[in-house]
Amino acid sequence: MGKNFTLEQIPDMTGKVCIVTGGNTGIGKVCALELVKKNAHVIVASRTPSKALATIEEIKAETKSDKIEFIQLDLLSLASVTKFISEFKAKNLPLHLLLNNAGVMACPFALSEDGIESQFATNHLAHFYLTTQLLPILEQSQPSRIVNVSSSAHKMLLFHGFTLDTLNEKSKYSPSVAYARTKTCNVLFTRELDQRLQKKGVKNLYVNSNHPGIVRTELVRHNGPVLNAIIRQFSIDANDGAITQMYLATSPEVEAKDIHGQYYVPFAEPSTPSGYAATQENQTKLWDFTEKILSEKVPGYAGAGI
Ligand SMILES: NC(=O)c1ccc[n+]([C@@H]2O[C@H](COP(=O)([O-])OP(=O)(O)OC[C@H]3O[C@@H](n4cnc5c(N)ncnc54)[C@H](OP(=O)(O)O)[C@@H]3O)[C@@H](O)[C@H]2O)c1
Repeated sequence: MGKNFTLEQIPDMTGKVCIVTGGNTGIGKVCALELVKKNAHVIVASRTPSKALATIEEIKAETKSDKIEFIQLDLLSLASVTKFISEFKAKNLPLHLLLNNAGVMACPFALSEDGIESQFATNHLAHFYLTTQLLPILEQSQPSRIVNVSSSAHKMLLFHGFTLDTLNEKSKYSPSVAYARTKTCNVLFTRELDQRLQKKGVKNLYVNSNHPGIVRTELVRHNGPVLNAIIRQFSIDANDGAITQMYLATSPEVEAKDIHGQYYVPFAEPSTPSGYAATQENQTKLWDFTEKILSEKVPGYAGAGI
């Protein structure tokens, strides 16, 4: 498969501040490393300090740069997201890139600290909250970007429907359907947020989503060994897995071609999301549902503000 972009094409990022969720391993770690190599100031937003700090030391050693730091973020806890937001704001930094990369796939049924199904809580809810609360800084820092890492697995929702009301019912839980639902949410959130920004007249905050490819990372930890052996045959490494999101996150083409609200696949190719991820109706349904949860679970929540 030809590549429309390579990591070497990431432009100089001097003066740019970037948050990478899940920047301690897998695709997120490659993104953090490549951004620091190009002189960005990177904040690794991860849940486990020991893992994040080890990665940061590795990246510092490799790049001879100290423009990388850790702020703890556990996406399974809305209180942790609130704390992350206030710690980031206290630094009085601009924000040019929010890379919503962290995710879990097909884990056994569990609830987050706030009582929400864990894949939905991690992959969508916490990222929605984080993103909308950081919007004022992203707007002030234009040109700026948000990249929401989705997956082609969103297409697996095909025979199941975009159901949200039974989300927290263990008896209705299927690990793979729940994952597909969250990756559908990433696409729907991207487009709804983009439309709201456009309506508000925010023209230089570019919001897009992507599928990184089938990538050899720790994401498959809940698959069986046989399935993982099959997947390994046709998967790509994390460097190639980082290409599509790094294109959306950094390429000057995104601004030159005014790319926003779109879904991209390897390697930096525009694509079309599946039916459930393509309707205006599901965008609105997801936005309202998410706002309702946040207003119930976050003390003093004042809404997404857009
Ligand atoms: N790999 C693929 O084939 C593939 C395909 C399509 C889409 N994707 C998407 O690509 C993204 C990156 O995945 P990956 O393949 O790089 O997986 P990975 O190696 O498992 O990395 C996932 C990252 O998310 C973090 N994370 C998970 N739960 C978290 C939480 N509660 N709070 C904060 N961070 C949390 C992990 O932290 P810990 O290290 O602490 O667990 C890790 O840093 C995901 O959104 C995934 O859905 C991957």
